[in-house]
Amino acid sequence: PVKDRVESLLSRMTLDEKIGQMTQPERQNVTADDITRYRLGSLLSGGGSVPTPNTPESWADMYDGFQRAALATPRRVPLIYGVDAVHGHNNVVGATIFPHNIGLGATRDPELVRRIGAATAEEVSGTGVDWNFAPCLCVARDDRWGRTYESFGEVPELPAAMSSIVTGLQGPRLGGPASVLATAKHYVGDGGTTGGTDQGNTEVSKAELRRVHLPPFQAALRRGVGSVMITYSSWNGVKAHGHEYLINGLLKRELRFSGFVISDYNGIDQIDGQPGFTPAEVRTAINAGIDMVMVPSEWKRFIETLRAEVEAGRVPLSRIDDANRRILTKKVELGLFERPLTDRRYLGTVGSAEHRALARQAVARSQVLLKNDRDVLPLARNGNRIFVAGKNADDIGNQSGGWTITWQGSSGPITPGTTILEGIRQTAGRSSTVTYSKDGSGIDGSYKAAVAVVGEKPYAEFMGDRPGAMGLDDEDLQTIERLRASGVPVVVVLVSGRPLDVAEQLPRWNALLASWLPGTEGRGVADVLFGVTRPTGKLPVSWMKSAGQQPINRGDGKAPLFPFGYGLTYRR
Ligand code: IFM
Repeated sequence: PVKDRVESLLSRMTLDEKIGQMTQPERQNVTADDITRYRLGSLLSGGGSVPTPNTPESWADMYDGFQRAALATPRRVPLIYGVDAVHGHNNVVGATIFPHNIGLGATRDPELVRRIGAATAEEVSGTGVDWNFAPCLCVARDDRWGRTYESFGEVPELPAAMSSIVTGLQGPRLGGPASVLATAKHYVGDGGTTGGTDQGNTEVSKAELRRVHLPPFQAALRRGVGSVMITYSSWNGVKAHGHEYLINGLLKRELRFSGFVISDYNGIDQIDGQPGFTPAEVRTAINAGIDMVMVPSEWKRFIETLRAEVEAGRVPLSRIDDANRRILTKKVELGLFERPLTDRRYLGTVGSAEHRALARQAVARSQVLLKNDRDVLPLARNGNRIFVAGKNADDIGNQSGGWTITWQGSSGPITPGTTILEGIRQTAGRSSTVTYSKDGSGIDGSYKAAVAVVGEKPYAEFMGDRPGAMGLDDEDLQTIERLRASGVPVVVVLVSGRPLDVAEQLPRWNALLASWLPGTEGRGVADVLFGVTRPTGKLPVSWMKSAGQQPINRGDGKAPLFPFGYGLTYRR
């Protein structure tokens, strides 16, 4: 049994070997020789940290190279390699990029989300990677927060239901075909910070923490999630990375979490509010229950520091053994000892037609129709004249958002896929005319409909908070105005990671479709625009009337522009 194997291994391991298992450097900061010499137990690729060329094959080769170095140690303990595959295997050029979580929340379909998890696991497995830092189970309570799009929704029931993705990623059992270790993150309360500040302070009572922010984690635990990542945020002024009650008390003792706990990237550095980590921070984090530390660059100093703390008796050996038991158990369960190298049978699944079809379906199901005056939608498929404009109409990077090939995402063709414009062209029917101009110039009254694809540009953690205005930018407003001036009915397709403040302009638009961040399969948006698929998406978050309404979940009876769960469909 697994337990005996782990105990037998542990009984033979030195302190250095055990500390190596608890250390996770960024792959750019280690050599293969370091892995062997320091008995490193894990590596990560941070967002945008990719091999050259960035192909599935070079990922597999890179992984196997690192893994061979780990196997060249006396105990032959394999590495566990982690990435953020948060909407498909979004690190690899050519992978299928699924909608970000906020769009998946709109589908209200846990089985679809489980299948997306399984497809992602295949693509991840094909590149060797064993561990995914997903899903984010935050309950986003304030849309000013830049990570709102990583949330399945604003009420605990929705992320809890969508934790079905854990079952998709890990498979019916860890170690089965294309099984990848999942991570419930960021534990806990990351979506509840005051002002929606990323890495901020969540000021809620114990009862509210348990009622609002904990249930998605409990759901993931019931699904057997193998790892939990700690949030950068604080709970009532105390950083979660050093929170003994949250980690040891609530997660491990009360909820009986048996997997292992990973820190966030340099997360332990923040415990005392000063840059860098100190011995006290290492001690506090490990004693609070963190089992593996994501310590991207200063991993050698971390190893020395933890060793000194153990030798001085300030971190008990029993804690080191507990952390190792948890990590080694998952490695055994994943089958890493038997099958340490990449299973290249799954290489061909990266960006496969089957996965793209699933993503297209998910995109269509995630669209939320918010306004449709005089049934301007669906657009007729044949003999139509459609004018398309907007900065997000023909841009795979913009429609995919953050965490796409690069950490912050980027504008432009970063990976192959179908833009929303291309989707419209493919779906409009041969006898239709589709004309595109990015800024809306050139439109005349001969068109039957104008589609403005506007909204946000990509951003990820650190960069996405919007503490001030939350409206469209001037470029978008001008584009829409050009279309409106022609007298042609205007359909606004909003590509954004959260609701935007559009109440003032909305009366002048004929239709509004919330597309969220659909990913590489823009055709799913066109499917809804043309009525190939009827819109069925429901708002995963309330839609503010103005930015001043944030946090929209204060529970003080403010009427939103559109309530949680709102979504129209077509009459015909
Ligand atoms: O997994 C992520 C986390 O969500 C935010 N900080 C970095 C981690 C690793 O990339």
